[in-house]
Amino acid sequence: MLVTRLIERKRDGGRLEPAEWTALIRSYVAGDVSDSQMAAMLMAIYVHGLDRMETAALTDAMRRSGAQLSLAHLGGLRVDKHSTGGVGDKTSLILAPLVSSLGVAVPMMSGRGLGHTGGTLDKLESIPGMRTDLTLAKARAQVERIGCVVMGQSSEVVPADRGMYALRNATATAESVPLVASSIMSKKLAEDLTGLVLDVKRGSGSLVHDLDEALELAGTMVALGDANGCEVVALLTAMDRPLGRAIGNALEVEEAIHALSGEGPPDLMAVTYALGAEMLQLGGVAADADEARRRMEVAISSGQAARKLQEVIEAQGGNPGVVDDPAVLPQAGACELFEAPRRGFVARVEPRGIGRALVALGGGRAGPDDRIDPGVGFVITAKPGDWVELGEPVATIFARDDAGIATGRAALRSSIVIADEADHPLPLISHRVTMDGVTRAD
Ligand code: URA
Repeated sequence: MLVTRLIERKRDGGRLEPAEWTALIRSYVAGDVSDSQMAAMLMAIYVHGLDRMETAALTDAMRRSGAQLSLAHLGGLRVDKHSTGGVGDKTSLILAPLVSSLGVAVPMMSGRGLGHTGGTLDKLESIPGMRTDLTLAKARAQVERIGCVVMGQSSEVVPADRGMYALRNATATAESVPLVASSIMSKKLAEDLTGLVLDVKRGSGSLVHDLDEALELAGTMVALGDANGCEVVALLTAMDRPLGRAIGNALEVEEAIHALSGEGPPDLMAVTYALGAEMLQLGGVAADADEARRRMEVAISSGQAARKLQEVIEAQGGNPGVVDDPAVLPQAGACELFEAPRRGFVARVEPRGIGRALVALGGGRAGPDDRIDPGVGFVITAKPGDWVELGEPVATIFARDDAGIATGRAALRSSIVIADEADHPLPLISHRVTMDGVTRAD
């Protein structure tokens, strides 16, 4: 295989055959295709897209680029959940322990921050000692023992996604339907799942731009799961404002812990319960959404879900004391209240500007080798549609120093828009996509 010929063909809008995708990915993982060549290929895919057959071939090649988890010996159903990426989206941190505390095995393989969106692994690693770079043997043993693991791609498992993910982040090629679909589904299909719930975000803070693209992304991933014996349910949820209040790695862990103690913000809990209800039905422990919701509420109020989070943290080397005392999380060096610059309705809270500001504060990566500052971020209490008075506190900025506070202040000034009239935000949960088709959920 001459990689330059493949890049050239894709650059000019042509197609690659399945064997060519396999050869390309195998050579990339072996180090025979350089990062610069892969970056060029990613840009060609970004510009021209892939059809569904090419996306399936790329996904399969990525999935087979390393070893795969085998869990069938457990006998029960195994369900995971993944988001296509957003700002303030910490539902995975809540759902992994919540659903596994109700008896469904949850082997979760998550991602890092991508572009302006946050990543579950970066958030979890803000817990002192917590490791997500687990070997497959350790991950498997942990699922056998406590029913849940949250881990990342590695040099052993889906290594192709590890490299390509970092390159997409560094080359502005994250926002592509086939690249998001193959990245997510290569990881999920390597986990030996029986069911998968996807949170497909839409709106200005998501990686896909409009409803049609979100439906195409959801349909592509549902079909990839079906072709590989994994039932997939996708919910389309709003990302035209941040989810919940906290944005930033340690701040989001703290909010997830509050949610597991029954004190999560309403929008975060609504999305969490909707996704969790799908997971519990796919996991065979709830007959319908109402029963699932009741079981989740009991798991939260009894402390069972929070205890499962402690078990997962402890099993992965972290300090489980964080669940009782989130103050052990890394703290920001400086913080400042942000007050409404006028009275009126909160018309918009723009997630993309806030996600980008988080990266600028050090809470995300601009380059592949950047280290994350886990303590920085925002807590934004104002939601679209709220009425606020001049000078009323609507957010708090957490930064390393005064320069970071100034960056955060500028970002909030342009992202929190207050006007005489309220805007029309997207419905929180709008569509449900399965192999049976698309239904409206609002
Ligand atoms: N999550 C992933 O794992 N990959 C993407 O491309 C987007 C979200």
